[in-house]
Amino acid sequence: MTASPLQALPLDELRRRSSTKWRKYGDDVLPLFVAETDFPLAPAITARLAEAVALGDTGYTPPDPGIAGAYAGFAQRRFGWQVDPARVRTTCDVMMGVVEILRAVTVPGDRVVVTPPVYPPFYSCIEEVGAVDERVPLVYTGDGWELDLLGIEAALAGGSRAVLLCNPHNPTGTVHSAQALADLADIAAGFGAVVISDEIHAPLVHPGVAFTPFLAASPVAPRVGFTVASASKAFNLAGLKCAVMVTASDEHTAIVRGLPDEVEWRTGLFGALANAAAFDEGSDPWLDSLLAALDENRRLLAELLAEHLPQARYRIPDAGYLAWVDLTALGWGDNPAGRILREAKVALHLGPLFGEEGKGHVRINFACAPEVLREAVARIGALAASS
Ligand SMILES: Cc1ncc(COP(=O)(O)O)c(C=O)c1O
Repeated sequence: MTASPLQALPLDELRRRSSTKWRKYGDDVLPLFVAETDFPLAPAITARLAEAVALGDTGYTPPDPGIAGAYAGFAQRRFGWQVDPARVRTTCDVMMGVVEILRAVTVPGDRVVVTPPVYPPFYSCIEEVGAVDERVPLVYTGDGWELDLLGIEAALAGGSRAVLLCNPHNPTGTVHSAQALADLADIAAGFGAVVISDEIHAPLVHPGVAFTPFLAASPVAPRVGFTVASASKAFNLAGLKCAVMVTASDEHTAIVRGLPDEVEWRTGLFGALANAAAFDEGSDPWLDSLLAALDENRRLLAELLAEHLPQARYRIPDAGYLAWVDLTALGWGDNPAGRILREAKVALHLGPLFGEEGKGHVRINFACAPEVLREAVARIGALAASS
């Protein structure tokens, strides 16, 4: 049975929120930039957090507040992937998990492969550990994007030590194929390199698309891979601070266990409780209704762009609620989001932050009510018509 689409909250309620999405700009701006969603929380999360508040349960996070088993159950149900809960450790967010694993597997000056256009903090987290990013852009095939495996192989052959993979990919919404991931694992193994797979968008793979967790891509993948994940994108929990680091080989499990205790101590207790509730089977129907709403919106966006901005190029993403839109043909320069914010009062994420490939692009967050998406694209369309 297909789930009915979840309804986003009305704008007047959303504007009472205190998160970045609602506080960065004034009320005249429609915020479709940072990856927060406009939906109500899943009921199991509201209940769990309300119980904790009522109890004054606001102390330190214990080593496993139920999240390891919940994540393993989720991985089995949603991806058919068997995770050993003993190989799951928490930290405060996905980027911190990535940073601390990178710190453990590289030395300052090492090169780390990234595949632009990509989530901008990938660049800064590599810099944070004293490593240097080596950019091997995704290849546009005419019908989507894929990893440039030959380019990655050349980078590793040239001495790069690690690949920071975005699986599924932000901002293009690409779900890498099982074959590409298995090939990537073989290539990394051939050079003794590691792959850190950021799977924060994995719960948001759209119906009909098969998601392959990197560690399940092949028998070789556990030897080279680390996964960092969270319920925070799908369930809108970013401010609560919790992510999981997952491994599937003794050697890599030992590396994650060997990280300083502080890495785990920084997990937010509310984040851990909320992630455990999100990954629990009881939240699956809520996630399915979220996906139904996002499925409608990703298609609606295609219709709206065709109507108001026919010059825009957009491929409907296979995962997530982020749309990567090429506005080069409008002639609004490298960073069209700047003009769109000033003159159309719509806040989008700035394409060039994602790398060279992002020039002329914007990223649109469509995890909102259809009316908000309609109004945002109509505003940009009116600007295009008047300029
Ligand atoms: C690919 C990717 N990784 C990580 C993050 C941030 O996650 P966290 O807040 O857990 O560090 C985001 C946020 O949008 C993301 O898109």
